[in-house]
Amino acid sequence: MRTDRLELRPLTPEDAEACNAYQSLPEITPYIYWEPRSLDETKAWIDRVASSTGADALVMIRSDTGELVGDVGIWSVGDHNGAEIGYTVHPKHQGQGFATEAVRVALRLGFEERGYHRIVARLDARNDASRKVLERLGLRREAHFVSNEFVKGEWTDELVYAMLADEWAQLSVDSPSVPS
Ligand SMILES: CC(C)(COP(=O)(O)OP(=O)(O)OC[C@H]1O[C@@H](n2cnc3c(N)ncnc32)[C@H](O)[C@@H]1OP(=O)(O)O)[C@@H](O)C(=O)NCCC(=O)NCCS
Repeated sequence: MRTDRLELRPLTPEDAEACNAYQSLPEITPYIYWEPRSLDETKAWIDRVASSTGADALVMIRSDTGELVGDVGIWSVGDHNGAEIGYTVHPKHQGQGFATEAVRVALRLGFEERGYHRIVARLDARNDASRKVLERLGLRREAHFVSNEFVKGEWTDELVYAMLADEWAQLSVDSPSVPS
């Protein structure tokens, strides 16, 4: 899959070093569940993703430089035709809209190819960068759970954002540029 500036293709074991280049950095982990990963831990993550059914894991490749700049995943959750998305961009490539561009592709894949009814994203309430990506793409804030998770030694708030297939279809009608 391609956007104006990215190629999105399935994650493979050969991507371990490029993914570890950002997964090993402390600046990407403050608001996510895991700590910076060693190369072996990144390889184990790729193995887990590859062996899980009902999941699409994609890497983002910059079309201009050919660099792997991040990953985005969408996986089936629950018994009601729902899915969840997650994404990470190398700090060197953040702030340029790559996450927004890639998550838009994941939403299109989820709704238009996989046929999900509802797609959610869960995030630490302090994760402003992630929240802005979701709001920019038109997901609705459905929940703000207060102090509901104990992560990395402290109680944290969690936000839940969601979009329905109908809402995605309506976005495509109202502003064709949004989902493209
Ligand atoms: C969350 C994360 C992926 C967001 O990355 P990001 O670079 O901030 O997101 P984008 O690439 O969409 O860039 C958005 C910024 O680029 C700017 N931008 C520049 N060019 C742009 C373009 N063509 N299109 C859209 N935005 C553009 C936007 O204005 C925005 O700036 P703002 O946040 O100040 O409003 C990143 O912070 C990250 O990897 N964090 C660690 C992992 C993580 O927390 N993942 C989410 C778990 S829920």
